[in-house]
Amino acid sequence: MSIRLNSSKKSPRLVYIKTFGCQMNNYDSEIMAGVLTAHGHKMTDNPSEADIILLNTCSIRDKAEQKVYSQVGRYRPYKDKNQNLIIGVGGCVGQLVGNDILKKAPLIDLVFGTSNIDKLPQFLDYINYSGERISRIDKAEEWTDKDIPISRNTTKSGWVSIMRGCNNFCAYCVVPYARGRERSRAHQDILKEIEELVRSGHSEVTLLGQNVNSYGKGKEDEISFPQLLRLANQIEGIERIRFVTSHPKDFSPELVEAMKLEKICETIHLPLQSGSDHILNRMNRGYTATQYRSKVDMARREIAGLTITTDIIVGFPGETEEDFAKTRDMVKEIGYDSMFLFKYSVRPGTAAADFDQQIDEKTKQKRLEEILNIQNQITLEKNRAYEGKVVEVMVEGPSQDKKDIMIGKTRGNKVVLFPSADGIREGDLIKIKIDKGRLYGLDGEVA
Ligand code: 5AD
Ligand code: SF4
Repeated sequence: MSIRLNSSKKSPRLVYIKTFGCQMNNYDSEIMAGVLTAHGHKMTDNPSEADIILLNTCSIRDKAEQKVYSQVGRYRPYKDKNQNLIIGVGGCVGQLVGNDILKKAPLIDLVFGTSNIDKLPQFLDYINYSGERISRIDKAEEWTDKDIPISRNTTKSGWVSIMRGCNNFCAYCVVPYARGRERSRAHQDILKEIEELVRSGHSEVTLLGQNVNSYGKGKEDEISFPQLLRLANQIEGIERIRFVTSHPKDFSPELVEAMKLEKICETIHLPLQSGSDHILNRMNRGYTATQYRSKVDMARREIAGLTITTDIIVGFPGETEEDFAKTRDMVKEIGYDSMFLFKYSVRPGTAAADFDQQIDEKTKQKRLEEILNIQNQITLEKNRAYEGKVVEVMVEGPSQDKKDIMIGKTRGNKVVLFPSADGIREGDLIKIKIDKGRLYGLDGEVA
């Protein structure tokens, strides 16, 4: 037992949250902030003054656990200074590693999972009164998003989770273990949350799920994802609706139809992962390169100005030069607007961790660079094609380094930089004439 003075009397207590990983994790951090604020705590962006530091971790790729320990090590001086400081580790690493974290890292007081963030105030109170270090991991499926307070980091463009978990078990991926099996939220709750976003001043929403196209599946009384988009499209005050992530195997003509609605942005993130059927099959992706290609063709035929982004993994176990060449050719052929490119990394507990023919680091690096060079060229060409055109931009605010330059996004999710002008505010929809396409996005001026 440590000597923890009863500091809960010092109210409110300051909480600092550090978030790693995906948009779902950012959203979960907003929920953590929401439940703690509702419990009387206050948020801070300065860890050195915090009474509680929480790490919302990600384990999608390499060295996730190690990253947590080294980050926590940076907080040692704060712990030396304030013996009542509580350091908690949650998110996917918390869920997967659990109690062992306490054994490995004496600075950590609390380990929690992806599905019990609503109980954080109770965990913290318990630690505070007992002085014990605890781990509390519930089954990943326990979580429901119902009636949970959210303290948003966003003011104009917000996230709403429509489902949690994943049933796909792609051979490389840890998500089904870290976030459990797929479950969809009730559509009434989702629509209510979008309406609340509007009331708090937001005009853009991104609907979040690991595989949004299978929303509602397996629930008899639930609607489909395209139907959900139709209802969201009717909500007054929302100007733009986005969604991630679409799994190619469930990407349907009904969804493409729904994407023609006024507020649904013309952009899809459609992870290809590999262009080789042999590798796609080993990955357990559930589609072939030909099927993927025909879905992209269908979407492009139907939706004018569609932008497409993707995820690619190079160096998956068994990926031959021939397999890699197929990915490279497919990247050239599809012509993505941008991509997230990864070297395969072994995730303990996943099927591919036991596959033979693991690829050496040097080959992975070489393949990564080759795709990166091709993609950079394509991105540049695509962005240059906007030169001279006028696009609708939602203003996000001033750029971090140059205060006289504003940042915004097109409906297709391209970043646009333009000189600020009187009367332009965050959240405004304005027309920008593009004069230069660059790798990072587009430069222009108010049209
Ligand atoms: N190794 C490399 N990349 C991975 N991803 C998921 N798991 C792994 C892994 N073990 C990538 C996939 C996925 C994205 C979110 O992260 O491309 O679409
Ligand atoms: Fe992971 Fe595959 Fe599920 Fe995406 S669809 S979260 S890659 S298992």
